[in-house]
Amino acid sequence: MSGNALWQYRWSDDFALGDPTVDGQHRAFFEEAAALRAALASDEPKECIVAYCAAFVANLRSHFADEEDLMGRIGFPALAIHRQEHERLLARTEEVVAGIHAADCLIDCLLGAHALMEALVEHVTNQDMRIKTFMPRQCA
Ligand SMILES: [Fe+2]
Ligand SMILES: [Fe+2]
Repeated sequence: MSGNALWQYRWSDDFALGDPTVDGQHRAFFEEAAALRAALASDEPKECIVAYCAAFVANLRSHFADEEDLMGRIGFPALAIHRQEHERLLARTEEVVAGIHAADCLIDCLLGAHALMEALVEHVTNQDMRIKTFMPRQCA
């Protein structure tokens, strides 16, 4: 694997959709993704990392729900497809977390976790940005 390109992803104001809830969740997501990666690569006790994963999944689930509410409110035309993508990502996240629960050695989980984070970051920076076009214009 070449370097840490993924972990150079940072929140940028270009990612703001104009919804304070969803924007706050996206901003937090970048920090959580980097922190989860750091935790997996650290020698923290497994219970801490498992607890961390549980919080990550819970945050992701409530973010997806809030984002789907937003898409519904603004009449986003591809809501059904986007929701399916959320379900797919959530299932994949739960799979990786189950792997972490079951693992004897957390280093074994790093590759799967990296690939997952890449997919999640890609979702935020590409798929979620499509919502922006449909956000109501804000008056200055
Ligand atoms: Fe999102
Ligand atoms: Fe999304």
